[in-house]
Amino acid sequence: MERTLPFAVLISGRGSNMLALARAVTEGRIAGRMVTVISDQPGAAGLVEARRLGLAAEVVDAGPGTDRPALGQRLTEILKQHGAELVVLAGFMRILDSGFVQRWRGCLLNIHPSLLPAHRGLHTHRRVLAAGDPQHGCTVHFVTEELDAGPAIMQGRFAVGSGDTEESLSARVQQLEHIIYPRAVGWFAAGRLGWKDGAAMLDGRPLTTAVIEDVQ
Ligand code: GRF
Repeated sequence: MERTLPFAVLISGRGSNMLALARAVTEGRIAGRMVTVISDQPGAAGLVEARRLGLAAEVVDAGPGTDRPALGQRLTEILKQHGAELVVLAGFMRILDSGFVQRWRGCLLNIHPSLLPAHRGLHTHRRVLAAGDPQHGCTVHFVTEELDAGPAIMQGRFAVGSGDTEESLSARVQQLEHIIYPRAVGWFAAGRLGWKDGAAMLDGRPLTTAVIEDVQ
C-alpha cells in the first residue's frame, strides 16, 4: 500500500480547518492520516467534532501554571506517541516555545487570517477595514520562532468590498482557508512541499513568494 503521512492537528476552538483537512483526507486529496487532534481547551467544539469522526482527540494539560517549555514538551510527547510527522496548527491559540519550534522545524505549519506579512497577530479583519486595505485573505506558512513570520507557502486572496464587515471578511477568509490549507498539506504529504535552509521548497525550488489563489 502507498505510504500515507501521519499528521496531527492542533486546535483551540471550533476546528473548521481541522474538519476541512479531515474531509480532504477522506476524499483522497491528502495522502495522509490524521493521527490525532490536540487541543489546549477541554471545551473546544472541534474536539467533539473530531471524536464524532472517530479521530483520536486529546487535551494537552495547559492550565494556569504550565509554562511554555512544559507545554511544548508535553505536546511533543503526545505527537510522538501518535507517530506524527507533520504538525498542523489550525487556530491553536498558544505561543509555542522555541524548543518546540526547533524540534518540529520544517514540519510545522500554520494558517493565519491575513495576507502576511500584513497584519501579524490578532484582530486581522478589523485591522484590514481600519487600514482600508484593498485586499484581504489568508496565508499558510511554516512556523518559525518569530510569530506569524515564517516562510509563506500559499495565500488565498480576494478584494475587500465597500459593504464588507468584520463578520463578512471572517466568513470569506474562512472559506478560502478551507481550500488552501488542505492543498498545502496535500503538497507536503505528497513530498512536493518541504523546508531547506530556512526556505519553503516546492517541487525542489525555493518559494520566493507564496503561491496565490485569487478569488472573486
Ligand atoms: C482561523 O481563522 C485561522 O486562520 C486562525 O484561527 C482560525 C481557526 O478557525 N489561525 P477554526 O477553528 O479552524 O474554525
